[in-house]
Formats: sequence, C-alpha cells, structure tokens
Amino acid sequence: MQKIFSKLIDSFIDNKVGVTDDFLTSSLAINLKQNLIELYAAQQFRNAGIGNEQLVRQNQLIRSDQIYWLDRKHNNSYENSFFDCIDRFVIYLNATCYAGITGYEFHYALYENGSFYKKHLDQFQNDGSRKYSMIIYLNADWKDSDGGELCIHHSDHLQMISPLNRTCVFFQSSELEHEVLLTNTNRLSITGWLKG
Ligand code: OGA
Ligand code: MN
Repeated sequence: MQKIFSKLIDSFIDNKVGVTDDFLTSSLAINLKQNLIELYAAQQFRNAGIGNEQLVRQNQLIRSDQIYWLDRKHNNSYENSFFDCIDRFVIYLNATCYAGITGYEFHYALYENGSFYKKHLDQFQNDGSRKYSMIIYLNADWKDSDGGELCIHHSDHLQMISPLNRTCVFFQSSELEHEVLLTNTNRLSITGWLKG
C-alpha cells in the first residue's frame, strides 16, 4: 500500500500529476464497479451540477456525466473499503507532505456514450476547500478508440490519460485545468477531493 502511495506522490511532485495504475485491488475495483452499475440501474444517479443548480440547462453544455455521492452512512461494504483506502492515503499524505487534509468527498461518475466535461478547474470561486483532486477509473477492457481521455492542460503541453481500470490520478485542485474528452462508450469512475 505504502509503495503505491509513494508512487502516486512521487509522480505528483515530479510532474504536477500523480498517476498510479494499481491504486485499488482488482477485487475491490470489480466490486465497486458492480455497486456503481446496480445503483445506476436503480436510478440513484443524478445529473452533475457545476455549483449553481439554476443553470441546469447550461450545465449540460459543460458536463454531461451523472453522479452518486458515496457515504459511509450507506453501510455499503465496498464504499466503506474504498473510504478505508482513502483514509490510509490521507494519513500517509499528511505525514509525508504535511498536506493538512481534514476531510474529503467522493462520488461515482458515469459518463454515458457521448458524454464529456469541458475544460475547468475543480475549485469553486467562493470556496477554496478542495485541495487535491483524485480520480480512480473502473473501466476494464478500455480501448484507445473509446476516447474519454482525461486531458490535463499544463502551461506548455497537454497530458492525456486513458481511464484504465484501477488507475488513480492525483493533482492540486486550484492549479490545473482539465477536461474529459467525449467518450464513445460508458465511462465509469470515482472522483473526489481531499479538503483542508
Ligand atoms: C471532475 C473531473 C475527470 C475524469 O469530475 O471534476 O474532472 O477523468 N473528472 O473523470
Ligand atoms: Mn475536474
């Protein structure tokens, strides 16, 4: 576990974007994906907002994913195992980087075929509490032709990351603009923010 965490943090320090391809165990990734699919089939997902619920129609032009907030109160063992993993990561991050993380929020996201999220920053204008963004992908058998890359806008280049199963991406929420390119198939993930 610590090896995976240090790989994520080392690549974050080197490149502003931490990436590791094995953040979750295979079995937890399968179980989280199954849980996501069941919740989606039970119509528990909602159109994602961008901070202002009155702009729903405009939102659809910016992002077209659907989300479900994870919560320990759901008493779902897979959600709880995921949070256990995040808890360990936060302890490690605070101890090694003095990150001062005191909380977090995570949701499942499902981008149906044809969905996207245009270029944005993850920090709201009036709320700086989101310190780090984390995304973990749950797509086994992802192909290049499926699209749906996370495109990160560095000052001098673009970085493309395919949403491959168990890959975790980690970056500073206030720093890097990014977008989700149009996906040609359903694209599943867990997205969240470490807060301070
Ligand atoms: C987000 C986001 C990226 C991704 O939800 O804010 O940028 O790759 N997600 O899903
Ligand atoms: Mn984002």
